[in-house]
Amino acid sequence: MDEIRFDDQVVVVTGAGSGIGRAYAHAFAGRGARVVVNDLGGSRDGTGGAHGAADTVVEEIRQNGGDAVANYDSVATMEGGESIIRRAEETFGRVDVLVNNAGVLRDKSLLKMTEEDWDLVVNVHLKGAFCVTRAAFALMKKNGYGRIINTTSGSGLYGNFGQAAYMSAKMGVVGLMNSVATEGARYNILCNTIAPVAASRMTDDVMPPEVLEKLKPEFIAPLVLYLASKENKETQMIFNCAAGWFSRTAVCCAPGICLGDAARTITPEEVRESWETITSLEDATPLNSVVDSFQFLTPLF
Ligand code: NAI
Repeated sequence: MDEIRFDDQVVVVTGAGSGIGRAYAHAFAGRGARVVVNDLGGSRDGTGGAHGAADTVVEEIRQNGGDAVANYDSVATMEGGESIIRRAEETFGRVDVLVNNAGVLRDKSLLKMTEEDWDLVVNVHLKGAFCVTRAAFALMKKNGYGRIINTTSGSGLYGNFGQAAYMSAKMGVVGLMNSVATEGARYNILCNTIAPVAASRMTDDVMPPEVLEKLKPEFIAPLVLYLASKENKETQMIFNCAAGWFSRTAVCCAPGICLGDAARTITPEEVRESWETITSLEDATPLNSVVDSFQFLTPLF
């Protein structure tokens, strides 16, 4: 079996100073990539910052014979995003792969969540993914090649208690993926999203140790490396990934029912009568664009 390699490729991993991002950085470097290890080095809730996290990972990679440089900018500003990508360009001359992984957590129920909590979490996860992607996209477009992987979360995709900002941001990165995949297709820039579950400081107090043991961050890296490879031709897809389990998940649309004739006003009672059909997911399919959803309106046109 041919090995998937990244020789001569440059990979940027945000939030690579710990957890899952660190595992990505090692996995890419182990397969020949030159890696930009970005990490602000703050605490789990996004306070503080230190160079140590990124430096340590770079040192580990170099000791293993790999090539990596550190960057300490926050992903959450335009300047930060540009500076991270500039670090890759100035050091290694290009960017082939971007993994938007940096993240923070401030779990609070809706009424306890402050504007500051909301802004910080959304800025790191969603705006951060935009800021770094925008800068990387410009280089990738010039090179006619790029692979971008966003990080969502099962809680955003499926629901959870007490994570309004986190969950909103994590659904937001799915929207960003839809945009980047659509605009990137003509330049061979592919963008996918993963929803990982892994032991890290984000999860070490929400799951028991015997479960965490089975959720090694290293188990997430193979999916990300495949999506980041030249071989991968998929774009605009979302994948679950945990403990060696991989599955595709999607925002789907069901055919539903055309109640009216697009001329007369439909009554709420008619909606009530067809509720079973309206809520049914039978024959639901993922769509690649909003235009695809118009197929279900054809009886009306
Ligand atoms: P982690 O806390 O170990 O890693 C996140 C890293 O991002 C940290 O090293 C942190 O310093 C860095 N970071 C935070 N703010 C930053 C900023 N503004 N700029 C640059 N770096 C910044 O957590 P983990 O678990 O490795 O998380 C990685 C990603 O996976 C996150 O996006 C997280 O939301 C996501 N995720 C993780 C899950 C899990 O089970 N661990 C579940 C679902 C999603």
